[in-house]
Order: sequence, then structure tokens, then C-alpha cells
Amino acid sequence: MHSIPTEDRILGILKEKDDFVSGEDLSHRLGLSRMGIWKAIQRIKSLGYSVVAQPHLGYKLVEIPDSLIPFELAWNLKTKSVGKKVLSFKKTESTNNTAYELAAKGAKEGTAVFAEEQTKGKGRLGRRWISPAHKGIYMSVILRPNIVPSSAPEVTLIATLSVTKAIRELTGLLSFIKWPNDVVINDKKICGILTEMNAEIDKVNFLIVGIGVNVNSDRKDLPKEGSSIKEELRQRISRIELARLILLRFDEYYDTFKKLGFNSILSEIKRFSSSLNKRVRVHFLDRFIEGNAQDIDKDGALLVRLDNGFVEKVFAGDLVNIR
Ligand code: BTN
Repeated sequence: MHSIPTEDRILGILKEKDDFVSGEDLSHRLGLSRMGIWKAIQRIKSLGYSVVAQPHLGYKLVEIPDSLIPFELAWNLKTKSVGKKVLSFKKTESTNNTAYELAAKGAKEGTAVFAEEQTKGKGRLGRRWISPAHKGIYMSVILRPNIVPSSAPEVTLIATLSVTKAIRELTGLLSFIKWPNDVVINDKKICGILTEMNAEIDKVNFLIVGIGVNVNSDRKDLPKEGSSIKEELRQRISRIELARLILLRFDEYYDTFKKLGFNSILSEIKRFSSSLNKRVRVHFLDRFIEGNAQDIDKDGALLVRLDNGFVEKVFAGDLVNIR
């Protein structure tokens, strides 16, 4: 049986009760001495939780830190697969690399790897993802869908939709999907997604969907063309709440994707897309094209109507809205 650490069990009890719980009650429920409980409370406090202790009353949880603690991320999270197991690191080179290694060793579908800081955060096409400590969400989800490699971009779009919806729900900010792998607010990039895969020619073994969100980052931490939720909202938000909501939405859309296919989610992706029916410039491979972003195809590719009337199908690239 999977055993839950003492700290998690105590935190669960304190959160459920939302009031004082006596040391006696805790020691009875956990089968530990009062000293054992006291020591566990000290370990809980060292994680940044604020717990008050009152003689005759016991312990009460008064403040939860905004740290990406697995217990907080996963507590009562009702997902089918995404976030069923959550791991969190203080510092890692890249959560995508960590998740990839875990997946190669057989980690389960839905395992989500978080880090408070990345020292070599990766973006698409060898770019860097600036990942200052405790300011953003840096997470990678291991997925094992039964798809061919050419369908992997569909999963990236599902992730962008999930982040877009989570940001809207939590903050009210009008976030949009910027095809193929970004989320923008006021035309500024807030989130980037890097999907990597391990595949054979006709079968995906696993996908690593890496999601980076600039949450409470200050202007000085951000690239020129980027922004953060804090900068756009003018206030800090809880990274834990946003991360949980992203896991929830991603789980729902991914489940629909597996059951009903990409087509069943496509209309929502289009609805929240920032580029459709706009003039765009797209850079892909070694080419630039310019035209009207006419549609997103049933495989997630962008259809761009060029000025000569020809419709070009683009599978991935860098896109700029030009009017
Ligand atoms: C991009 O915009 O080019 C994609 C950025 C992806 C960044 C995330 S942060 C979590 C995960 N780990 C990484 O090293 N990269 C992704």
C-alpha cells in the first residue's frame, strides 16, 4: 500500500477541521506519541506553514505557504490521470529532463514534475526559459497517449487551452492561445509549452508536456516581449491555486481527447485563439510566410491564406500577429 507521510496526514486533518485539533486526538489518530506529533509539526513549520499551538486546544493551521509542495498541489485533487502523482523539486535543470528520465524508467501516465527553480529551463528550438525561483510555475507532465507522433502537436494545443482556461477562471484576465504553443495576455507571452517525445516511427511511447507560466515574475525577470500574470493583473496570485487548476483542466481535456478525439476540442481551441482571422507572419523551417490565419485544421495545423489565394498548411512555427 502507498503510505502517506506523517506530515501529510497531519496537514490533511488540520485542513479538514480548519480549527484547533488536540495533540491527543492527533496522536490517537496517527498512532504516534505526543512528542512524535510535536516533531512532525516542527517539520511542517519548516516547510513554511504557520501552525499555532495553544495549551488545552492543540494545533491550528493558520497559513499555507505559496510553495509548490506536493501535498498542496495534490490535496483533494479530483483528476483521472494528470496530477495523480505529483513530485516537486526545489531546483532542477529542467523539469522536462527530470520527467523524461522518470518516464524512461516507467513513471506512470499523468505524473507531474514541478520545480521552484530551473537552472537550464528550455524553450522551443533550443531557446532558454528564464525560470526565477518561486516566481513561476515550471511543470512537466508525463503522458502515454495511444497516438502517432504526428498527433503530438494536438496535445500541446490541449495544454495551451487548459492553461488559458485556468488563467481566465482564476484571475478574470482575458488570456488567449497563441498558436501553436503559447498563452498570451494583452498580446504578451505569459506561458510557453514545450512538448518532447519518445517515439518510434508509428507510435508514441511517451510525451513530456512542459509548461512554464510567468506568474508572479517582476518586469526585470521577463523577456522584452513577455509578461507575467502579476504584471497584467497588478497583484500577486497563488501559484498553488493556478497550478491545481491547470492540472484539473488539463486532465479534463486530455480525457476528452483520449475518448472522443482532438476534433471534439478543436472548436474551443479556435474560440480562444488570438490569431484566427488576423493577418500573421509565420516563420517555420527556413521560410517566412504572410497572410490571413484562416483556420486551425483537424490535426492542429494552421491554415494561412496567402495574398495569392493559396492556402498553406503550417504544422509548427513562430507566429506574429501583424494587424
Ligand atoms: C517555449 O515557449 O519555447 C516553451 C517554454 C517551455 C518552458 C517549460 S518550463 C517547464 C518545462 N521545463 C523546461 O525546461 N521547459 C518547460
